[in-house]
This record gives sequence, C-alpha cells and structure tokens, in this order.
Amino acid sequence: MEWNREQRYRKLQEVNEKEKSELRELVNQCPWRQSFHIQPITGLLNDPNGFSFYNGEYHLFYQWFPLGPVHGLKYWYHTKSTDLVHWENVGIAIEPSNGYDSHGAYSGSAIEHEGQLFLLYTGNTWDENWIRQPYQCLAVMDQSGEIDKIDLPVINGVPKGYTEHFRDPKVWKQGNEFYLIIGAQRKNESGAAILYQSANLRDWQFIGEMKTNLDHFGYMWECPDYFELDGKGIFIFSPQGLEAEGDSYQNIFQSGYLAGAPLDFETNKFNHGVFQELDRGFDFYAPQTTLDPKGRRILVGWMGLPEIDYPTDHNGWAHCLTLPREISFKDGKLLQRPVDELERLRGEKVEAESILKDTAAAFEGFEGVAYELSVDFWESSAEEFGVELGTGENERTVIKYDTVEKKVVFDRTNSGALFAEEFGSVRKCSFISEDISFRIFVDVSSVEIFVNDGEEVFTGRIFPGDESKGIRFFSNGGRTSVSAIKWDIAKSMK
Ligand code: FRU
Repeated sequence: MEWNREQRYRKLQEVNEKEKSELRELVNQCPWRQSFHIQPITGLLNDPNGFSFYNGEYHLFYQWFPLGPVHGLKYWYHTKSTDLVHWENVGIAIEPSNGYDSHGAYSGSAIEHEGQLFLLYTGNTWDENWIRQPYQCLAVMDQSGEIDKIDLPVINGVPKGYTEHFRDPKVWKQGNEFYLIIGAQRKNESGAAILYQSANLRDWQFIGEMKTNLDHFGYMWECPDYFELDGKGIFIFSPQGLEAEGDSYQNIFQSGYLAGAPLDFETNKFNHGVFQELDRGFDFYAPQTTLDPKGRRILVGWMGLPEIDYPTDHNGWAHCLTLPREISFKDGKLLQRPVDELERLRGEKVEAESILKDTAAAFEGFEGVAYELSVDFWESSAEEFGVELGTGENERTVIKYDTVEKKVVFDRTNSGALFAEEFGSVRKCSFISEDISFRIFVDVSSVEIFVNDGEEVFTGRIFPGDESKGIRFFSNGGRTSVSAIKWDIAKSMK
C-alpha cells in the first residue's frame, strides 16, 4: 500500500476504534512478533528517546507512528522498567499538538532537574509549501507520570549557517550547567553538531558548533550524544551519506563514535581519533545513552533503519529497540556488553562440549526461537568455524570466524524472508584473536551477537519460517574445540 501525505499525518484521535482494532488484529497475527524486545503495539517504532532513570524507574521513550509501518506523524511512546529487562507500556507521552510540533514530536532526550523529568525534543513542522521548520521544545514529567508540554519552544528556529535539518537535542549536566548537542546540516550540505548551554533547561544560549576534524563527513548528523567515560570524551552520532568502504558503512546509514580528550568548552574543540562504527551488523541506528544510578553508561539503539522495507510491514508494524548495552572504554575502543540484569531472562539451560573435526554437529536440546546462547571456540586448526541458528530445511543464519581472513562474519543470506537485499546479506569485520566467543541473544526475529565480551557487536533482524528452530555448530577444514550453553528465554514483555 502507498501512503499519501494525508494518511501519514492523520492524528490518532481522528481514527475510529474499528480501524485501530483491525490494525491490532493484523499485528497480532504476525509470526515475527518479538518476545523480549521493546516493540510497538502497532505501527512503526524508530529512535529511542528520553532514556533516563527517574523516580526509581528507568524510562525509555521511542519515536512512534501508530497507524502503519511508515514514517508519518511521530509521537513519543513511553515505556518504563525497574530492571532494564521487564518493560511496561505506559502509553503516549508527547503528542504533536501545536504550531511548534504540528508534524511530529521528533527525537530528543531527558534529564532530571528539581524533582521532575525534563524532556527536550524537536518539534517538526511543515508550512503550506511543505518547507520544514524545526523547533526545540520542552515537556516536563512529574512524579505521578503526568507530562506537561511547555507552550513556547526553548530554541526557536535554526542558527545562521545551517539548514532546516536541525534536530535531536541530547541534554547533559556538567558542573552547574546544562548542555545540549543538536544534530545539524551546514548550508554546504555537510553534517555538524551544535552546542547550547543553560542554567535552568528553559533559557538556552547558543555556544556554537562542536569543532571536530571531520569537515565533510556525510550530509547530516542525526541523533548526537556526548558524554565522558573513564576520562575520555565520547561523541556518538548517526551520519548520513557515507560511502561503503571495504567492510565498513555497508548499511544505508551508519552510527558510530569519536573518542578523544574531553570537549574543551573554551574553544568548542573536540580532539578525537577515527570514526568507528558501533555495530557491525545490519539493523542498528540512532542509539542513545544514559548514565544510571549505578554509574553505568547504558546504550540502546533502534534495531532498524530509515528508508528500508521490512517483512513485518505486511502486518502493520515495524522495528524494535536493541537490548540495553553497558559501554566501557578500553584500548581506544568502546566495549559493549549486555547489561547484567539480562541474566534474569535465563530459563531452562542446556550445555554441550565437543571437538568438531571438519564437520557440523547438532547437540541435544539446542534449538528454539528465543534464547541466549554462549559459545566458546578454541584450539582451532580450521579454516572457519561457527554456529548456525534458525536452521530449517532451507534456512540458516550463520555466525562464524574466518581464520584465513581473520574476520567475524554474520550471514543472513538464507535466514528466511528477504529484505534490504540491495545492501547485501553478509556483514564482516576484522578481528584478530585465537579464541573466539559469541554471546548471542536470539529473539523471534532478531539476533544480537557480542563477540569476545563486547569487542564487536553485530545486530540484525531475521525473518525465519516457523520450522526453522535448529542450532548447529561447525568447523570446516580442520578441528575446533567448542563449548556452548543455551538458556531459553520466556516472554518478558508486559
Ligand atoms: C532518526 C530521525 C531523527 C528524527 C526522527 C524522526 O531516525 O530521522 O533525526 O528526529 O528520526 O522520527
């Protein structure tokens, strides 16, 4: 179905109950609904927003178009959790309602201040000639969960030198001051990030552009995020318009980070190393982090990409969020590990250990559609070894280590329903190590692979057939020792 402008910009309250319940029905018939990931009840989910800990709970909002699997009038949808594992759907948090956000409550972030949670977001508007005008807006949530939108925007329009692509404010506090970093496009069509400062989260002063070494690195930087970690400055952003290069930048858009000395507010200069992708898989974009009360920096991403059709579109919904990852910094690199609390999902356990000699093996009890799998490989003389998931008659998802090229490979060529084929169905990344471990979270239609305790991560949606539940381990062209543990994961979403 083609969606026209009118259909995309209908408000939820203009839609009758019958249409909504038919859509819910269609969604519920989908064989690819997730069991332990945050997903929309209907329609399309995109960026995580307002990730924060407030009033004893984690709050995680997301971009939501309720009426179908397309980008249209965006709301902020609210979910919350006490443990980062079991999430409760709260409902709509911010709806477009006035001249400053008439065409969408776009992405933004949250911070606690004076006992309330301040939500800063981009109000998207289009005028009668369909020219975009963005505003940075504020809404405030109190302890009862009530959210009030502030009538006037806190940042009106766009600073000189930048286009209307100016959005996604990320807020943080340093000393007594609040800062905002906003994704922008310069008039010469290159991406940038802009800084603001405030003492009260309502009155914002323009500081200027964050000065990086990347003068022309994509045409737009979406969803910027800046924080300090172990004495380093880390800048995460989602640049659009990078060309594929070797194994890098294979998806339609990328997200990654720069690490360096902490941002210098005297000069706005950020001295940093090279851009590194956060995720080496297929479906990962617009991540956002928060600092939690335990002092952990936790990251969640959108497990999807703009401008790509997904097989669930036929069932009236699209996308989910990734599992929360705790990030740390080591040897010039961010490490990403699933948060410890995810062990609470572990149900029935099976274990196996073997030496595979130029063969593939299935172990007793190793199968399923929602599970955590931890696999160690060592003492290999093979050309390649790895694991196949979601195996069925003609289907399999392959995760392997190529000992000749020294690369980790994630291959979804035969995973099931095909999509995004123009961007290829194999992802690889150089990885030098004798021993390889994969910690893999498999849900009904996704795979998240943490390599050697978070040194690399590969995330991808897969859409296997009903019967494709098998797991096999293999070693080709030599022998490899393997040990594996699988824990079933029962449905965890409330
Ligand atoms: C990133 C993005 C943001 C924008 C939001 C709109 O995926 O394009 O830049 O605020 O999605 O939903």
